[in-house]
Amino acid sequence: MKKNTLLLAILLPLASIIAQSSTTIDRKVNNLLAKMTLEEKIGQMNQYNGFWNFTGPSPKGGDAAYKYQNLASGKVGSMLNVRGVKQVKEVQKIAVEQSRLGIPLIIGFDLIHGYETVSPIPLAESASWDIAAIEKSAALGAKEASAAGINWTFAPMVDITRDARWGRVMEGAGEDPYLGSLIAAARVRGFQGENLDDIHSIAACAKHFAAYGFAEGGRDYNTVDIGLNTLHNIVLPPFKAAADAGVKTFMNSFNDLNGIPATADRYLQREILKEEWGFDGFVVSDWGSLREMIDHGYAKDRKHAGELALNGGSDMDMESYIYLDYIETLLKEGKVSQAQIDDAVARILRVKFELGLFEDPYKYCDEEREKTVIGSKEILDGALDMAKKSIVLLKNEKQTLPLKKEGQKIALIGPLAADKNSPLGNWRIAAADNSAVSVLEGLNAYKGNAITHEQGVKLVNKIPAGFHEEVDINTTDRAGMEEAVAAAKEADVVVMVLGEYGFQSGEGRSRAHLDLPGFQQELLEKVHAVNSNIVLVVMNGRPLVLNWAAENIPAIVEAWHLGTQSGHAIAQVLYGDYNPSGKLPMSFPRSVGQMPLYYNQKSTGRPGADGEDAGSVFWSHYGDERNSALFPFGYGLSYTSFDYSDIRLSDNKMNRDGSITAQVDVTNSGKIDGKEVVQLYLYDHHASATRPTRELKGFKLIELKAGETKTVEFKIDQERLKFYNGAQKWEAEPGDFSLYIGTDSTTKRRADFVLQ
Ligand code: NOJ
Repeated sequence: MKKNTLLLAILLPLASIIAQSSTTIDRKVNNLLAKMTLEEKIGQMNQYNGFWNFTGPSPKGGDAAYKYQNLASGKVGSMLNVRGVKQVKEVQKIAVEQSRLGIPLIIGFDLIHGYETVSPIPLAESASWDIAAIEKSAALGAKEASAAGINWTFAPMVDITRDARWGRVMEGAGEDPYLGSLIAAARVRGFQGENLDDIHSIAACAKHFAAYGFAEGGRDYNTVDIGLNTLHNIVLPPFKAAADAGVKTFMNSFNDLNGIPATADRYLQREILKEEWGFDGFVVSDWGSLREMIDHGYAKDRKHAGELALNGGSDMDMESYIYLDYIETLLKEGKVSQAQIDDAVARILRVKFELGLFEDPYKYCDEEREKTVIGSKEILDGALDMAKKSIVLLKNEKQTLPLKKEGQKIALIGPLAADKNSPLGNWRIAAADNSAVSVLEGLNAYKGNAITHEQGVKLVNKIPAGFHEEVDINTTDRAGMEEAVAAAKEADVVVMVLGEYGFQSGEGRSRAHLDLPGFQQELLEKVHAVNSNIVLVVMNGRPLVLNWAAENIPAIVEAWHLGTQSGHAIAQVLYGDYNPSGKLPMSFPRSVGQMPLYYNQKSTGRPGADGEDAGSVFWSHYGDERNSALFPFGYGLSYTSFDYSDIRLSDNKMNRDGSITAQVDVTNSGKIDGKEVVQLYLYDHHASATRPTRELKGFKLIELKAGETKTVEFKIDQERLKFYNGAQKWEAEPGDFSLYIGTDSTTKRRADFVLQ
């Protein structure tokens, strides 16, 4: 009681300070709005790309003079891809000192996984299931980027992804809405910090609203057609979590959703986001997505696109220049309203006030800070820590791993083994090319073994597609294979580093094949023929088909694209200085034909037992492939082993407003300390809308010393059982439930209860 009173005594004044400061900001916004001309208001709704980097096709190239002139006349509210204190200061100075009202720019940037220091790709970080570490990684990224003048990131990408063919799976948290929601909120907290006007905080952006991850066939920018059930239960939860965590901006998406381009989708942007969720930040379009509505066949021309986008709830136009050209005419014609314009501008100004840009437009422009923060030890150490936590051990037989530290002859083979570029992955705009620690360098930091290195399959330079040097895994030249096989023959152990080069995933990088590109599979089999003591390190931005390796190679390490510190992280795992604990955030398929593949599938009216002869062909399956994943969602091994007790339920009946608890004892039954992600899945047997046969609804990352046992407890209440039901409401429905607790999404450890 006393505690509560004390808490209230602290919280009440705090709440009133927050309320006051938001009313103060509202007042400031309204005062400024009252002074603005229509042209200046429209200017705030216009975002230009910088003069140097491009992250999409540009309609006017680097027309610097035009942009400079518009900055000076208050026709620009934001710029993206302007980075580094010098560049940011240059454009900010024009906006602040030359435009009539001196409204500062908000400077956006794709800080997707680190700035100059690159952390693991977001999909890899998600494999850590370590929410605190992910939040910290985002915070370190914000710290580095804010020191370079950036105050707004186009992240987190919170699109749920079920199709590994889509190149952008690397940017998100994988296939699960529960894990995805926790990670979305963590990244928002990391970027925005406790106070948005802190010098290390930047505004975050939940993208791509919505359902971009459901592009048909995994082909980027493709159409999306999903029902309300999937939209609300699977796609929207991470967006809602980001909104609840206070994310300041949303970005809409390139795709059309059920026939309407997301950029013009009133239902999504106005009804759900701004009205139902009460989001008071602003929505930026995706790059040129206003203009693209013409190609979608939805807008008849640019002017019409402007009308549709503003009516649909897009507040800022990224790189289409359409609002700038047409809003005034549209207003005169009564096709858009003054209230819509004022609302959009107020939202944009509010975020600028909250960032403290009006008080000091140059607050992120301190050259000294830029020098000391970028690449600092704190940030490099953070990147290494996150990289180790992101690694997933997929297979480890015959105690192949960890490697012995001395007296071994190691053949290090593969096109990615010494590559210093690929580990950076895609979306690392500010990082220097070839700035990652390679696996070769990481292993060489350990002195006790003799290492011979052979590429086996060479990398080739590609014509730069963007503004980075790109390499590709060659598909025509087998030179180097013989040398690799010869080195393998001489070795005690072979470490092979295979997978996708750094730009093989990401935007515009969809693939129709999910196997190891080029001659890598052939190389793997040839090496295996002479020495089967192989550790396969896979570097990739998406789940790959690894059937042959899973059957024939004794140890497989999923190492994604782990960023700047990649090689050190991998070496520390291979040598056992770090015991891996990552778990897959996306299912790894057996065949590309299984796409889309995800663990939280529905039963169908013709369910069957995967891998068993169902006695007929008339059930939901493939005649030539199993239904299940090769490596399922939530899967990942450790150098130690964990035993689980049966589940203990506090009750097998739960009242609507009550709760029950489920407990298991988890024992580290191996010889070394380790971490385990204990996962809780729920199954609602019958409901007013069909439900997945299991859904992640909780997990705990625990550390156990060798021999130690811990009891893990989950509380189940109505909140965990709610879903978007047949009546289109978020409700828990009475009936039979099962819960599963275990080491991955296929666990059979089960207990049943009834919600009364
Ligand atoms: C297009 C991408 O879809 C989006 O994610 C990104 O933020 C913008 N380009 C800006 O680079």
